[in-house]
Amino acid sequence: SDERTLVLVKPDGVQRGLVGEVISRIERKGLRLVALELKDVERSVAEQHYAEHAERPFFGELIEFITSGKVAAMVVEGPRAIAAFRQIAGGTDPVEKATPGSLRGDLALETGSNIVHGSDSPESAEREIKLWFG
Ligand code: CMP
Repeated sequence: SDERTLVLVKPDGVQRGLVGEVISRIERKGLRLVALELKDVERSVAEQHYAEHAERPFFGELIEFITSGKVAAMVVEGPRAIAAFRQIAGGTDPVEKATPGSLRGDLALETGSNIVHGSDSPESAEREIKLWFG
């Protein structure tokens, strides 16, 4: 009954030295790391990752941002791993939605640079894990 989810520490999180903080919170929750790699993000991978946002006005910014530096990509496993990581991450808007105690609630200010990504469904997780880890 364990699930897997794809987690990214985005370029803002890597540049700010928050990879350890993210991993620490994942591990303290009881989730397990099953893959971890620091990666330069190719434009084509970024565009596929964010394909569902292709028509949004912020798509260009989103691609610029995620390709602006290295990301830490990981596969995280455990019971209800998808929802559990989204709880750890907090809501997308770090001020209006993320609660204190979450990564975004504690450590981020802007929706565009919100430290982490986590898959939002089992279908997304499967697609994203294939995309990032082959
Ligand atoms: P993420 O969960 O990685 O997936 C979609 C991303 O789009 C989201 O995180 C935000 O970082 C980004 N995003 C959503 N809304 C906006 C916005 N209005 N402006 C810039 N980026 C956004």
